[in-house]
Amino acid sequence: MIEISNLSKSYPSPDGDEVVGVFSGVNLSVEKGASVAIVGPSGSGKSTLLNIIGLLDKATKGELEVDQKKLNSFTEQEIAHYRNQTVGFVFQSHHLLPSCTVLENVMIPALAGFGSLQGEALENRATNLLEEVGIGHRANHLPSQISGGERQRVAVARALINEPSVLLADEPTGALDKKNTDHLIDLLKQLNEQRKLTLLMVTHSLEGSSQMKQSYHLNEGSLKQER
Ligand SMILES: Nc1ncnc2c1ncn2[C@@H]1O[C@H](COP(=O)(O)OP(=O)(O)O)[C@@H](O)[C@H]1O
Ligand SMILES: [Mg+2]
Repeated sequence: MIEISNLSKSYPSPDGDEVVGVFSGVNLSVEKGASVAIVGPSGSGKSTLLNIIGLLDKATKGELEVDQKKLNSFTEQEIAHYRNQTVGFVFQSHHLLPSCTVLENVMIPALAGFGSLQGEALENRATNLLEEVGIGHRANHLPSQISGGERQRVAVARALINEPSVLLADEPTGALDKKNTDHLIDLLKQLNEQRKLTLLMVTHSLEGSSQMKQSYHLNEGSLKQER
């Protein structure tokens, strides 16, 4: 599903002549339906790696293939389509729109014009997703009227509205307490297993990473498989 070879990312240093390397020579092969944890110290480049896979950021060097498509050669239109249809994102912060209801928030990514679902069919899918993540009874609430754990589950439902094949989660439990962390990890695992959704999760939670079938450690510029 995801094939990364010899991937490097660096930034120009503030004075412009040298480069600051984040990571280099990263190889990663993820099969369809796998669940993968990426762990590592703060600043090691975990978010950068996930953002490159999600085409929110660009690698400096290397090859990236998702769903047998070479992402390096994508046009702007293909990049927008990929971000909207192929991958779903969940971040540490939920990024829900405060003035839209829970149901509206879940439907928003389907309004970008890439999918065909609209009207009642779209509303039904969003409602079903909210049921699946366990908050169907909160559909008409505003984000401010539900708990942090519930907001994060809405963010998961929103990430799934366009039926992506890959879910990218960047410290999705970083702002949650233990109980809500366990609940969210269980949910992600369930979605991975039942929907054959390929799951890549950056996490600080040991328990979270142990629930994934594979685990990688990113440190001092290189990525190593631990499990
Ligand atoms: N726009 C940028 N310019 C220069 N350096 C950056 C930029 N964005 C991120 N970095 C650096 O890249 C490194 C990796 O960042 P990040 O991927 O956010 O790490 P992590 O998610 O593992 O905490 C950090 O050292 C950070 O300072
Ligand atoms: Mg990060």
